[in-house]
Amino acid sequence: MTGTDMTGTEPPGAKTAPPLLEIDRLSVRLPADRAARPILDEVSLHVAAGETVGLVGESGSGKSVACRSVLGLLPDGARVEGQVRVRGRDVLTLDRAGLRELRSHRAAMVFQDPRASVNPLHRIGDFLTEGLRAAGTPAEQAVARAERLLDAVGIQDPRGAMRRRPHEFSGGMLQRVVIAAALAGEPELLIADEPTTALDVTTQAEVVAVLTRLQAERGTGLLFVTHDLELAAAVSDRIYVMYAGRIVETGATDALFARPRHPYTAGLLACTPRIEPDAPPPRPVPGRPLSLAEAAPGCAFSARCAFAEARCSGERPALRRHGEGLAACLRADEGILP
Ligand SMILES: Nc1ncnc2c1ncn2[C@@H]1O[C@H](COP(=O)(O)OP(=O)(O)O)[C@@H](O)[C@H]1O
Ligand SMILES: [Mg+2]
Repeated sequence: MTGTDMTGTEPPGAKTAPPLLEIDRLSVRLPADRAARPILDEVSLHVAAGETVGLVGESGSGKSVACRSVLGLLPDGARVEGQVRVRGRDVLTLDRAGLRELRSHRAAMVFQDPRASVNPLHRIGDFLTEGLRAAGTPAEQAVARAERLLDAVGIQDPRGAMRRRPHEFSGGMLQRVVIAAALAGEPELLIADEPTTALDVTTQAEVVAVLTRLQAERGTGLLFVTHDLELAAAVSDRIYVMYAGRIVETGATDALFARPRHPYTAGLLACTPRIEPDAPPPRPVPGRPLSLAEAAPGCAFSARCAFAEARCSGERPALRRHGEGLAACLRADEGILP
């Protein structure tokens, strides 16, 4: 699951392929009545080919808006600054044909609720083959391909499954079908936006196992989005932590876990139940998450932060290098975290 770029597969001296995904200082504002409401503020993140990257934060932090931007799916009327590049092409300026190419071959997304992704009246086989057919694959090949994909995601009796309708599947099985459909176009990048949040715990683990196995087998870049830092750590090489529309910390998973630099990351770690016998009981992050629109001019987390000083609510911390990662906290160098 390490970041191997296209460089390894090309002859020496060949021009290397542009990076798989680069979100570069993306800001998104929505017009709400007269005052435009900010949603994302200068979000930058990247995913290399074959890499698994976690995007973590509480509900409302802007994870889904960031993900959807990658497929050119921003809300109507959104005002956008910055760039989203997939293999070097700016998604936000693509025309219809460019977007179609992006969504059919380069990048695919799996959403939280599998039932919202499928037409309840259509057979699973139609759902799986429609994209392939639209891309010109002959019917017989598309069916054979869909059956192989169902087999790959662990659906038994793929042929029978093709004839069934969504209500005949459990949530976990249907999410496998949705993952199969996302992989049908052999995307280089898969974005999984809380793919297991709607599922029970046992099913969650199975679906995560399917995703990570397929990612490893196919060398797909995976952006794995969750509110659960522990789950992100279990699958990701690197992690971005998001709060109120901004990235507040990022780094290699091990380093981030061993030594978080942002009090919010430390808070997310402290609220995860641990299995070690002498571990302290989980403590929730006090207060409720703010959206970017509600946040103070300085650090958006300062209102909930046990380490906040007067300057924290006035001065906005930039994302700066600390150790091997980046953190946006004025006090990140002070060793304030236990
Ligand atoms: N289509 C939309 N219209 C208006 N507001 C939206 C829309 N999508 C998201 N938002 C707002 O943007 C913020 C971030 O939302 P979202 O990206 O869904 O967060 P997350 O996925 O981290 O829970 C929230 O305040 C949400 O209300
Ligand atoms: Mg979301």
